[in-house]
Amino acid sequence: MLKNFWYACEFSSAITSKPKRVSLLNQEFVLYRNSKAEVVALDDVCPHRGAALSNGWVEDDCIRCPYHGWKYQTDGTCIQIPANQPGVPIPKRAHTNVYPVQEKYGFIWLFWGNLPENERPALPSFPEVKNPALRPIQFEFKWNAHYTRLVENSIDPAHSAFVHANSFGSGMAQEPELPSYEIRLEEWGATSLINLKQHKPKGFFWSYTHRKDCPEIKTIRTFYMPNIIYSDFARFITFVAHVPVDDNTTLSKFIQFRSFLTQPWADSIFRKYSLKINQEDKLIVESQYPQVVPDDLTAEIHTPSDALSLAYRKLRKKCLDMGYHPAREKITH
Ligand code: FES
Ligand SMILES: [Fe+2]
Repeated sequence: MLKNFWYACEFSSAITSKPKRVSLLNQEFVLYRNSKAEVVALDDVCPHRGAALSNGWVEDDCIRCPYHGWKYQTDGTCIQIPANQPGVPIPKRAHTNVYPVQEKYGFIWLFWGNLPENERPALPSFPEVKNPALRPIQFEFKWNAHYTRLVENSIDPAHSAFVHANSFGSGMAQEPELPSYEIRLEEWGATSLINLKQHKPKGFFWSYTHRKDCPEIKTIRTFYMPNIIYSDFARFITFVAHVPVDDNTTLSKFIQFRSFLTQPWADSIFRKYSLKINQEDKLIVESQYPQVVPDDLTAEIHTPSDALSLAYRKLRKKCLDMGYHPAREKITH
């Protein structure tokens, strides 16, 4: 887990005025919207007796603990203890941690770390997803795997011929070679642009993406630290947040846009197909040892097709060298 980054942790649409528990980074958070529709994120632990605030409710923009009714305002300060006689002061420690949040690209982003506001990395910029001609769907997938392996799986171009031979990789198995490719580095991310030979994959809707007049298709893959993936591939744009729930669990949240068959009735077909593809990856990713991507850049073997995952490892190493590893300390504000 890396501190000092914004973590996309939930779909925007999932956060309402009803408190919701979000499990992230070996911690539990509670998120809700206030009357201005702003998102509030707090530790999901009442400092009185440890009850989960997410089982409580929102009142006057504050959250009320369901156990003894202590009321916390949006800066985490307890402002009411119902069992106290009037005039009894509220203990100073009756305070829960609050976390900075933003909303962008259909996700809620929570800052986990201790950098002051002006030193926090910016959110990634993916203006394409605002295109109204694209039809979005959302779905999620749970893995018993460390999020670093999922990030690498998402940016790895070489496994499709094998792992996805029965779906979009069909036809690649005969020609699994990849052209050498360049990567474009940013401060906290990198992009690969690869022109792949066209093969007609299995699945009826690929007739919409397969162009007979064009021998190659452009594929774009971007990762953004610590866990965001953007890909543009055969008329699909996919945005993934690999949410690190804990050291062995990742909940990947996808927003996938398509520029064909944009009618709502087709959504369930694409959702089902994407889940099938994730299922193909599941067996592999959950088998990887060690579970976490090694910090040592020489621990595994890199070939030209691994250029983008190597760039990820280098940036991750840079973060670790900068002390961005919280070493299981709890981040508080
Ligand atoms: S545990 Fe929350 S008010 Fe007592
Ligand atoms: Fe895959």
